[in-house]
Amino acid sequence: MALFEKQKKDLSRPVPRHIAIIMDGNGRWAKKRGMPRSYGHAAGSETFRRIATYCKDIGVDFLTVYAFSTENWKRSEEEVGAIMGLLQKYLIEALEKMEKDRVKICFMGDLSRLPEELQALCANAVEKSKHFDGVQLNICLNYGGRDEILHAAREYARRCASGECTPEELDEETFSSLLYSAGVPDPDLIIRPSGELRLSNFLLWQAAYAEFYYTDVLWPDFTPEELEKAIAAFNSRSRRFGGTK
Ligand code: IPE
Ligand code: IPE
Ligand code: MG
Repeated sequence: MALFEKQKKDLSRPVPRHIAIIMDGNGRWAKKRGMPRSYGHAAGSETFRRIATYCKDIGVDFLTVYAFSTENWKRSEEEVGAIMGLLQKYLIEALEKMEKDRVKICFMGDLSRLPEELQALCANAVEKSKHFDGVQLNICLNYGGRDEILHAAREYARRCASGECTPEELDEETFSSLLYSAGVPDPDLIIRPSGELRLSNFLLWQAAYAEFYYTDVLWPDFTPEELEKAIAAFNSRSRRFGGTK
């Protein structure tokens, strides 16, 4: 805890502008305790609240979290229902303390497949928080990097078909503006807890030059101290973006 307090006050420490987190390991955390997977998701949602608050306190501009992937529908109805219920609970709470928190809430993903009640809460949270200029929280929900790229490609193709533009005109900037992440700078640091060394369809386009940080710590056990370790690792890296130092 001492480390957390000390570093939190160290305003000279560089902090990545955009941190993205694959919130993984809830199921294993619950299993280790002989509990159902939903218990792990509930614990994971508490970690998410703590880490989002901490990111806001240390001046992170963008926090993107992977909450539910396009592949996570393969899980049992019970588990999917538990995750959706926790998201709903979080959004109801967020709406209640929005003026105090001043977090700008955005979503990335195809929300049309979500329960209608949840879709309405998402729309409400986006609308009511759109003018906040503190941390921007991007919640990836029914999100897949491939789905995002296809969605953007379809939209550009539609514009070409209507004569608005041509295939030759397409550049990285235009393509980026058609992604769910439009307007958000690429992530500087991507963190994956729980020991898995893969992207699992997260931010495929945006991760081009992100720094990666992996840890064996399971998401429900992830603390601000763990985040500080990731930031320290990030600050020790040399980012060259294909050039030379
Ligand atoms: C991440 O934890 C949460 C979601 C994918 C929604 P998991 O549920 O994947 O936990 P593990 O990987 O099975 O431990
Ligand atoms: C990635 O975790 C998705 C989220 C954290 C929301 P998964 O647990 O679904 O990924 P895999 O199956 O281990 O690749
Ligand atoms: Mg997992």
